[in-house]
Amino acid sequence: MIKVGVIFGGKSVEHEVSIISAVQAMKHLDKDKYMTVPIYISKDNEMYTGAFLNDIEIYSDMDNLKRYAKNVVMYVKDNRIVLQNKKGFKGIVNEVDIILPVVHGMNVEDGTLQGYLELLGVPYVGSDIYAATVGQDKVFMKQIFESAGLNVPKYVWFFENEYKAGSEIIINEIEKLKYPVIVKPAKLGSSIGISIANNKEELIEAIDEAIKYDTKVLVEEVIPNLTEVNASVLGDYTYYQVSELEEVMGKDAFLSFNDKYIGSSKSKAPLKGTSTSKGMLSTNRVIPANIDKKLREEIIDMTKSAARVLNTSGVARIDYLIDKKKKKAYINEINTIPGSLSFYLWEPLGKSYEELLDEMITLAIKNYKRKSKMTSSFESNILKNHGGLKGVKGCKGKLGKLR
Ligand SMILES: Nc1ncnc2c1ncn2[C@@H]1O[C@H](COP(=O)(O)OP(=O)(O)OP(=O)(O)O)[C@@H](O)[C@H]1O
Ligand SMILES: [Mg+2]
Repeated sequence: MIKVGVIFGGKSVEHEVSIISAVQAMKHLDKDKYMTVPIYISKDNEMYTGAFLNDIEIYSDMDNLKRYAKNVVMYVKDNRIVLQNKKGFKGIVNEVDIILPVVHGMNVEDGTLQGYLELLGVPYVGSDIYAATVGQDKVFMKQIFESAGLNVPKYVWFFENEYKAGSEIIINEIEKLKYPVIVKPAKLGSSIGISIANNKEELIEAIDEAIKYDTKVLVEEVIPNLTEVNASVLGDYTYYQVSELEEVMGKDAFLSFNDKYIGSSKSKAPLKGTSTSKGMLSTNRVIPANIDKKLREEIIDMTKSAARVLNTSGVARIDYLIDKKKKKAYINEINTIPGSLSFYLWEPLGKSYEELLDEMITLAIKNYKRKSKMTSSFESNILKNHGGLKGVKGCKGKLGKLR
Protein backbone atom coordinates (compact mmCIF):
# COMPACT_ATOMS: atom_id res chain seq x y z
CA MET A 1 0.00 0.00 0.00
CA ILE A 2 1.41 3.37 -1.03
CA LYS A 3 0.65 6.22 1.36
CA VAL A 4 -0.16 9.39 -0.58
CA GLY A 5 0.01 12.73 1.20
CA VAL A 6 -2.43 15.00 -0.62
CA ILE A 7 -1.34 18.62 -0.07
CA PHE A 8 -3.86 21.39 -0.72
CA GLY A 9 -4.91 24.90 0.33
CA GLY A 10 -2.16 27.46 0.88
CA LYS A 11 -1.89 31.22 0.85
CA SER A 12 -3.56 31.68 -2.51
CA VAL A 13 -6.68 33.38 -3.85
CA GLU A 14 -7.60 29.96 -5.16
CA HIS A 15 -7.46 28.39 -1.68
CA GLU A 16 -11.10 27.29 -1.70
CA VAL A 17 -10.98 25.91 -5.24
CA SER A 18 -7.96 23.87 -4.20
CA ILE A 19 -9.92 22.35 -1.31
CA ILE A 20 -12.66 21.29 -3.73
CA SER A 21 -10.13 19.82 -6.19
CA ALA A 22 -8.32 17.95 -3.41
CA VAL A 23 -11.46 16.51 -1.79
CA GLN A 24 -12.52 15.19 -5.22
CA ALA A 25 -9.07 13.68 -5.82
CA MET A 26 -8.94 12.05 -2.37
CA LYS A 27 -12.27 10.36 -3.02
CA HIS A 28 -10.91 8.87 -6.25
CA LEU A 29 -7.57 7.43 -5.19
CA ASP A 30 -7.77 3.68 -5.74
CA LYS A 31 -8.36 2.25 -2.25
CA ASP A 32 -6.77 -1.09 -3.12
CA LYS A 33 -3.47 0.54 -3.96
CA TYR A 34 -3.29 3.85 -2.13
CA MET A 35 -3.90 5.12 1.36
CA THR A 36 -4.79 8.82 1.50
CA VAL A 37 -3.35 11.21 4.05
CA PRO A 38 -4.83 14.71 3.74
CA ILE A 39 -2.35 17.53 4.36
CA TYR A 40 -4.12 20.86 4.46
CA ILE A 41 -2.19 24.15 4.37
CA SER A 42 -4.19 26.93 6.00
CA LYS A 43 -4.12 30.51 4.72
CA ASP A 44 -1.55 31.29 7.42
CA ASN A 45 0.71 28.57 6.01
CA GLU A 46 0.26 26.01 8.77
CA MET A 47 0.04 22.32 7.91
CA TYR A 48 -2.78 20.22 9.31
CA THR A 49 -3.54 16.55 8.99
CA GLY A 50 -6.35 14.23 10.04
CA ALA A 51 -8.46 11.64 8.24
CA PHE A 52 -11.60 13.82 8.44
CA LEU A 53 -9.95 16.50 6.29
CA ASN A 54 -11.20 14.59 3.25
CA ASP A 55 -14.70 15.89 4.02
CA ILE A 56 -15.66 19.19 2.40
CA GLU A 57 -18.05 20.09 5.27
CA ILE A 58 -15.20 20.54 7.71
CA TYR A 59 -13.91 23.59 5.85
CA SER A 60 -16.95 25.68 6.66
CA ASP A 61 -15.75 26.06 10.25
CA MET A 62 -12.02 26.84 10.45
CA ASP A 63 -11.97 27.14 14.26
CA ASN A 64 -13.35 23.65 14.57
CA LEU A 65 -10.96 22.33 11.96
CA LYS A 66 -7.95 23.78 13.74
CA ARG A 67 -9.19 22.38 17.06
CA TYR A 68 -9.49 18.79 15.85
CA ALA A 69 -6.89 18.50 13.11
CA LYS A 70 -3.24 17.94 14.02
CA ASN A 71 -0.96 20.89 13.34
CA VAL A 72 2.16 19.24 11.89
CA VAL A 73 5.57 19.89 10.39
CA MET A 74 6.95 17.82 7.55
CA TYR A 75 10.45 16.40 7.39
CA VAL A 76 12.25 13.35 6.08
CA LYS A 77 13.64 10.57 8.22
CA ASP A 78 14.97 7.22 7.00
CA ASN A 79 13.54 7.91 3.55
CA ARG A 80 10.04 8.42 4.92
CA ILE A 81 8.10 11.65 4.79
CA VAL A 82 7.19 12.26 8.39
CA LEU A 83 4.37 14.44 9.70
CA GLN A 84 5.24 15.40 13.23
CA ASN A 85 3.15 17.19 15.80
CA LYS A 86 4.21 20.83 15.72
CA LYS A 87 3.26 21.41 19.33
CA GLY A 88 6.36 20.57 21.32
CA PHE A 89 7.61 18.70 18.24
CA LYS A 90 6.51 15.51 19.95
CA GLY A 91 4.91 12.49 18.34
CA ILE A 92 4.83 11.33 14.75
CA VAL A 93 1.27 11.78 13.53
CA ASN A 94 1.71 10.01 10.22
CA GLU A 95 4.17 9.01 7.53
CA VAL A 96 3.71 9.07 3.76
CA ASP A 97 5.59 7.77 0.72
CA ILE A 98 4.76 10.37 -1.90
CA ILE A 99 3.13 13.80 -2.13
CA LEU A 100 0.26 14.66 -4.45
CA PRO A 101 0.05 18.47 -4.67
CA VAL A 102 -3.47 19.71 -5.44
CA VAL A 103 -2.84 23.41 -4.99
CA HIS A 104 -3.78 26.31 -7.22
CA GLY A 105 -2.27 29.74 -7.74
CA MET A 106 0.42 31.94 -6.37
CA ASN A 107 2.48 30.96 -3.29
CA VAL A 108 1.89 27.26 -3.91
CA GLU A 109 1.31 26.06 -7.51
CA ASP A 110 3.89 28.55 -8.85
CA GLY A 111 6.88 26.43 -7.83
CA THR A 112 6.82 27.40 -4.17
CA LEU A 113 5.48 24.04 -3.01
CA GLN A 114 7.52 22.15 -5.60
CA GLY A 115 10.70 23.91 -4.41
CA TYR A 116 9.92 23.00 -0.83
CA LEU A 117 9.41 19.36 -1.79
CA GLU A 118 12.63 19.35 -3.84
CA LEU A 119 14.52 20.70 -0.85
CA LEU A 120 13.11 17.92 1.30
CA GLY A 121 14.09 15.53 -1.49
CA VAL A 122 10.75 13.73 -1.55
CA PRO A 123 8.88 12.26 -4.51
CA TYR A 124 5.91 14.32 -5.65
CA VAL A 125 3.36 14.13 -8.42
CA GLY A 126 3.15 16.62 -11.26
CA SER A 127 5.28 19.29 -12.86
CA ASP A 128 8.56 20.44 -11.39
CA ILE A 129 9.58 23.93 -10.26
CA TYR A 130 10.48 25.14 -13.73
CA ALA A 131 7.18 24.37 -15.43
CA ALA A 132 5.29 25.54 -12.36
CA THR A 133 7.00 28.94 -12.23
CA VAL A 134 6.61 29.63 -15.93
CA GLY A 135 2.99 28.52 -15.65
CA GLN A 136 2.21 31.26 -13.16
CA ASP A 137 3.76 34.22 -14.96
CA LYS A 138 1.67 35.19 -17.99
CA VAL A 139 4.67 36.98 -19.57
CA PHE A 140 7.14 34.12 -19.08
CA MET A 141 4.71 31.63 -20.53
CA LYS A 142 4.06 33.77 -23.61
CA GLN A 143 7.78 34.22 -24.23
CA ILE A 144 8.40 30.51 -23.96
CA PHE A 145 5.40 29.50 -26.06
CA GLU A 146 6.47 31.98 -28.72
CA SER A 147 9.94 30.46 -28.74
CA ALA A 148 8.33 27.12 -29.51
CA GLY A 149 6.58 28.66 -32.53
CA LEU A 150 3.13 28.67 -30.94
CA ASN A 151 0.51 31.34 -31.66
CA VAL A 152 0.04 33.80 -28.84
CA PRO A 153 -1.96 37.04 -28.95
CA LYS A 154 0.25 40.07 -29.70
CA TYR A 155 1.39 41.65 -26.46
CA VAL A 156 3.42 44.28 -24.66
CA TRP A 157 4.75 43.97 -21.14
CA PHE A 158 6.40 46.32 -18.69
CA PHE A 159 7.22 46.96 -15.07
CA GLU A 160 5.29 49.47 -13.02
CA ASN A 161 8.32 51.78 -12.55
CA GLU A 162 8.94 51.88 -16.30
CA TYR A 163 5.34 52.94 -16.83
CA LYS A 164 5.58 55.62 -14.16
CA ALA A 165 8.80 56.96 -15.70
CA GLY A 166 7.58 56.96 -19.31
CA SER A 167 3.89 56.20 -19.65
CA GLU A 168 3.58 57.83 -23.09
CA ILE A 169 6.22 55.56 -24.64
CA ILE A 170 4.53 52.49 -23.20
CA ILE A 171 1.06 53.65 -24.20
CA ASN A 172 2.33 54.26 -27.73
CA GLU A 173 3.66 50.70 -27.84
CA ILE A 174 0.34 49.36 -26.58
CA GLU A 175 -1.66 51.40 -29.09
CA LYS A 176 0.19 49.62 -31.92
CA LEU A 177 -1.81 46.54 -30.84
CA LYS A 178 -5.03 48.48 -31.60
CA TYR A 179 -8.00 48.74 -29.23
CA PRO A 180 -9.60 46.90 -27.58
CA VAL A 181 -6.75 45.53 -25.49
CA ILE A 182 -6.80 43.45 -22.33
CA VAL A 183 -4.63 44.41 -19.35
CA LYS A 184 -3.48 41.76 -16.88
CA PRO A 185 -1.27 41.62 -13.80
CA ALA A 186 1.42 39.08 -14.78
CA LYS A 187 1.11 36.59 -11.95
CA LEU A 188 -2.34 36.71 -10.35
CA GLY A 189 -4.95 34.31 -11.71
CA SER A 190 -8.72 34.07 -11.25
CA SER A 191 -9.12 37.13 -13.50
CA ILE A 192 -8.08 39.38 -10.63
CA GLY A 193 -6.98 42.83 -11.73
CA ILE A 194 -7.81 42.10 -15.40
CA SER A 195 -9.76 44.57 -17.52
CA ILE A 196 -10.46 45.46 -21.12
CA ALA A 197 -9.71 48.92 -22.50
CA ASN A 198 -11.41 50.36 -25.57
CA ASN A 199 -9.55 53.68 -25.60
CA LYS A 200 -6.67 55.54 -24.00
CA GLU A 201 -8.67 56.70 -20.99
CA GLU A 202 -9.78 53.17 -20.18
CA LEU A 203 -6.25 51.91 -20.79
CA ILE A 204 -4.80 54.23 -18.16
CA GLU A 205 -7.52 53.12 -15.74
CA ALA A 206 -6.86 49.46 -16.54
CA ILE A 207 -3.10 49.79 -16.01
CA ASP A 208 -3.66 51.62 -12.71
CA GLU A 209 -5.84 48.69 -11.65
CA ALA A 210 -3.34 46.02 -12.74
CA ILE A 211 -0.37 47.61 -10.95
CA LYS A 212 -2.26 47.39 -7.69
CA TYR A 213 -1.72 43.64 -7.90
CA ASP A 214 1.62 43.13 -9.57
CA THR A 215 4.71 45.11 -10.48
CA LYS A 216 4.73 43.36 -13.88
CA VAL A 217 1.93 44.02 -16.34
CA LEU A 218 0.87 42.34 -19.58
CA VAL A 219 -1.28 43.98 -22.27
CA GLU A 220 -2.64 41.88 -25.14
CA GLU A 221 -4.74 42.39 -28.23
CA VAL A 222 -8.30 41.17 -27.64
CA ILE A 223 -9.09 38.15 -29.79
CA PRO A 224 -12.38 38.83 -31.59
CA ASN A 225 -15.20 36.34 -32.31
CA LEU A 226 -14.07 34.56 -29.22
CA THR A 227 -14.69 31.07 -28.07
CA GLU A 228 -12.51 29.31 -25.53
CA VAL A 229 -11.25 25.74 -25.78
CA ASN A 230 -9.24 23.88 -23.16
CA ALA A 231 -7.17 20.72 -23.51
CA SER A 232 -5.60 18.61 -20.81
CA VAL A 233 -2.26 16.92 -21.35
CA LEU A 234 -0.95 13.90 -19.47
CA GLY A 235 2.53 12.42 -19.36
CA ASP A 236 6.10 13.65 -19.26
CA TYR A 237 8.79 14.37 -21.84
CA THR A 238 8.88 10.71 -22.85
CA TYR A 239 5.23 10.80 -24.02
CA TYR A 240 2.42 13.31 -24.06
CA GLN A 241 -1.21 12.35 -24.47
CA VAL A 242 -3.95 14.94 -25.06
CA SER A 243 -7.44 14.65 -23.57
CA GLU A 244 -10.83 15.38 -25.04
CA LEU A 245 -11.23 19.11 -25.68
CA GLU A 246 -13.77 21.22 -23.83
CA GLU A 247 -15.35 24.41 -25.02
CA VAL A 248 -16.19 27.00 -22.43
CA MET A 249 -19.44 28.01 -24.07
CA GLY A 250 -18.72 30.95 -26.33
CA LYS A 251 -21.83 32.94 -25.66
CA ASP A 252 -22.02 32.33 -21.93
CA ALA A 253 -18.33 32.80 -21.44
CA PHE A 254 -18.49 36.07 -23.26
CA LEU A 255 -21.49 37.20 -21.29
CA SER A 256 -19.85 36.45 -17.98
CA PHE A 257 -16.73 38.09 -19.30
CA ASN A 258 -18.74 41.19 -20.16
CA ASP A 259 -20.22 41.14 -16.72
CA LYS A 260 -16.79 40.90 -15.22
CA TYR A 261 -14.94 43.51 -17.20
CA ILE A 262 -17.02 45.63 -19.49
CA GLY A 263 -20.30 46.24 -17.65
CA SER A 264 -20.73 49.15 -15.29
CA SER A 265 -17.60 50.80 -13.95
CA LYS A 266 -18.32 49.15 -10.60
CA SER A 267 -18.02 45.72 -12.12
CA LYS A 268 -14.47 46.57 -13.08
CA ALA A 269 -13.54 45.97 -9.47
CA PRO A 270 -11.59 42.77 -9.02
CA LEU A 271 -13.84 39.85 -8.43
CA LYS A 272 -12.03 37.75 -5.90
CA GLY A 273 -12.63 34.05 -6.16
CA THR A 274 -15.34 34.34 -8.78
CA SER A 275 -13.40 32.53 -11.45
CA THR A 276 -15.10 29.49 -12.80
CA SER A 277 -12.37 28.37 -15.13
CA LYS A 278 -10.56 26.30 -12.56
CA GLY A 279 -12.65 23.24 -12.37
CA MET A 280 -16.06 21.72 -12.39
CA LEU A 281 -17.56 24.78 -10.79
CA SER A 282 -18.73 26.01 -14.12
CA THR A 283 -21.49 24.16 -15.92
CA ASN A 284 -21.33 26.08 -19.18
CA ARG A 285 -18.90 23.73 -20.86
CA VAL A 286 -19.33 21.58 -23.92
CA ILE A 287 -17.39 18.33 -24.20
CA PRO A 288 -16.22 17.62 -26.83
CA ALA A 289 -15.63 21.16 -28.05
CA ASN A 290 -17.68 22.06 -31.08
CA ILE A 291 -14.83 22.82 -33.49
CA ASP A 292 -13.82 21.35 -36.83
CA LYS A 293 -11.31 18.54 -37.29
CA LYS A 294 -8.49 20.73 -38.57
CA LEU A 295 -8.62 23.15 -35.66
CA ARG A 296 -8.95 20.25 -33.26
CA GLU A 297 -5.80 18.64 -34.63
CA GLU A 298 -3.98 21.95 -34.51
CA ILE A 299 -4.91 22.34 -30.83
CA ILE A 300 -3.78 18.81 -30.04
CA ASP A 301 -0.39 19.49 -31.68
CA MET A 302 -0.03 22.86 -29.95
CA THR A 303 -0.86 21.23 -26.62
CA LYS A 304 1.89 18.64 -27.04
CA SER A 305 4.41 21.31 -28.04
CA ALA A 306 3.45 23.52 -25.11
CA ALA A 307 3.80 20.62 -22.68
CA ARG A 308 7.15 19.70 -24.20
CA VAL A 309 8.67 23.18 -24.09
CA LEU A 310 7.75 23.51 -20.41
CA ASN A 311 8.51 19.85 -19.67
CA THR A 312 5.26 19.39 -17.75
CA SER A 313 4.72 16.21 -15.83
CA GLY A 314 1.53 14.51 -14.70
CA VAL A 315 -1.54 16.41 -15.80
CA ALA A 316 -1.77 20.02 -17.02
CA ARG A 317 -4.42 22.05 -18.83
CA ILE A 318 -3.78 24.42 -21.69
CA ASP A 319 -6.38 27.07 -22.47
CA TYR A 320 -6.92 28.50 -25.93
CA LEU A 321 -8.60 31.58 -27.29
CA ILE A 322 -10.22 30.89 -30.66
CA ASP A 323 -11.16 33.42 -33.28
CA LYS A 324 -14.17 31.54 -34.63
CA LYS A 325 -14.32 33.49 -37.88
CA LYS A 326 -10.68 33.00 -38.78
CA LYS A 327 -10.65 29.54 -37.17
CA LYS A 328 -7.41 30.50 -35.52
CA ALA A 329 -6.26 29.27 -32.11
CA TYR A 330 -4.05 31.24 -29.71
CA ILE A 331 -2.58 29.85 -26.53
CA ASN A 332 -3.91 31.80 -23.58
CA GLU A 333 -2.35 30.04 -20.64
CA ILE A 334 -1.24 26.85 -18.96
CA ASN A 335 -2.36 25.51 -15.59
CA THR A 336 0.26 23.11 -14.28
CA ILE A 337 -2.17 21.88 -11.61
CA PRO A 338 -5.56 22.28 -13.27
CA GLY A 339 -8.83 22.51 -11.35
CA SER A 340 -10.24 19.05 -10.65
CA LEU A 341 -6.98 17.82 -12.19
CA SER A 342 -8.98 17.93 -15.47
CA PHE A 343 -10.35 14.45 -14.75
CA TYR A 344 -13.59 15.28 -16.62
CA LEU A 345 -11.60 15.68 -19.85
CA TRP A 346 -10.18 12.17 -19.52
CA GLU A 347 -13.39 10.34 -18.68
CA PRO A 348 -14.77 10.73 -22.25
CA LEU A 349 -11.64 8.90 -23.47
CA GLY A 350 -12.42 5.99 -21.17
CA LYS A 351 -9.89 6.90 -18.47
CA SER A 352 -11.54 6.99 -15.05
CA TYR A 353 -10.41 9.47 -12.39
CA GLU A 354 -8.91 6.52 -10.46
CA GLU A 355 -6.85 5.51 -13.51
CA LEU A 356 -5.76 9.08 -14.15
CA LEU A 357 -4.46 9.46 -10.58
CA ASP A 358 -2.80 6.07 -10.78
CA GLU A 359 -0.98 7.05 -13.98
CA MET A 360 0.13 10.37 -12.47
CA ILE A 361 1.51 8.69 -9.34
CA THR A 362 3.22 5.91 -11.30
CA LEU A 363 4.88 8.54 -13.49
CA ALA A 364 6.06 10.49 -10.43
CA ILE A 365 7.64 7.38 -8.89
CA LYS A 366 9.36 6.56 -12.18
CA ASN A 367 10.69 10.13 -12.48
CA TYR A 368 11.85 10.21 -8.88
CA LYS A 369 13.83 7.00 -9.38
CA ARG A 370 15.34 8.33 -12.59
CA LYS A 371 16.27 11.61 -10.94
CA SER A 372 17.77 9.93 -7.89
CA LYS A 373 20.05 7.94 -10.17
CA MET A 374 21.08 10.99 -12.17
CA THR A 375 21.92 13.03 -9.11
CA SER A 376 24.12 10.40 -7.55
CA SER A 377 26.13 9.79 -10.72
CA PHE A 378 26.59 13.54 -11.15
CA GLU A 379 27.89 13.89 -7.61
CA SER A 380 30.43 11.14 -8.01
CA ASN A 381 31.72 12.88 -11.16
CA ILE A 382 32.33 16.08 -9.27
CA LEU A 383 34.26 14.25 -6.60
CA LYS A 384 36.35 12.50 -9.22
CA ASN A 385 37.19 15.65 -11.17
CA HIS A 386 38.11 17.67 -8.13
CA GLY A 387 39.96 15.02 -6.18
CA GLY A 388 37.10 15.14 -3.73
CA LEU A 389 38.12 12.13 -1.72
CA LYS A 390 41.48 13.61 -0.90
CA GLY A 391 39.69 16.75 0.11
CA VAL A 392 37.49 14.87 2.49
CA LYS A 393 40.46 13.06 3.98
CA GLY A 394 42.24 16.36 4.40
CA CYS A 395 39.22 17.75 6.12
CA LYS A 396 39.07 14.82 8.49
CA GLY A 397 42.70 15.37 9.34
CA LYS A 398 42.08 18.99 10.12
CA LEU A 399 39.05 18.13 12.19
CA GLY A 400 41.14 15.60 14.06
CA LYS A 401 43.72 18.22 14.95
CA LEU A 402 41.07 20.57 16.13
CA ARG A 403 39.63 18.01 18.51
N1 LIG B 1 -6.37 38.24 -25.47
C1 LIG B 1 -7.62 37.99 -25.10
N2 LIG B 1 -8.66 38.21 -25.94
C2 LIG B 1 -9.92 37.97 -25.58
N3 LIG B 1 -10.29 37.52 -24.37
C3 LIG B 1 -9.32 37.29 -23.47
C4 LIG B 1 -7.94 37.50 -23.79
N4 LIG B 1 -7.20 37.19 -22.71
C5 LIG B 1 -8.07 36.79 -21.77
N5 LIG B 1 -9.35 36.84 -22.20
C6 LIG B 1 -10.56 36.48 -21.43
O1 LIG B 1 -10.30 36.72 -20.05
C7 LIG B 1 -10.36 35.51 -19.30
C8 LIG B 1 -9.31 35.55 -18.19
O2 LIG B 1 -8.01 35.71 -18.71
P1 LIG B 1 -6.80 34.78 -18.27
O3 LIG B 1 -7.18 33.37 -18.46
O4 LIG B 1 -5.60 35.27 -18.95
O5 LIG B 1 -6.70 35.16 -16.75
P2 LIG B 1 -6.73 34.29 -15.42
O6 LIG B 1 -6.21 35.19 -14.38
O7 LIG B 1 -6.11 32.99 -15.66
O8 LIG B 1 -8.24 34.14 -15.14
P3 LIG B 1 -9.16 32.86 -15.07
O9 LIG B 1 -8.70 32.12 -13.86
O10 LIG B 1 -10.52 33.49 -14.96
O11 LIG B 1 -8.95 32.12 -16.35
C9 LIG B 1 -10.13 34.42 -20.33
O12 LIG B 1 -10.66 33.20 -19.90
C10 LIG B 1 -10.86 35.00 -21.53
O13 LIG B 1 -12.27 34.85 -21.38
MG1 LIG C 1 -7.50 31.65 -17.47
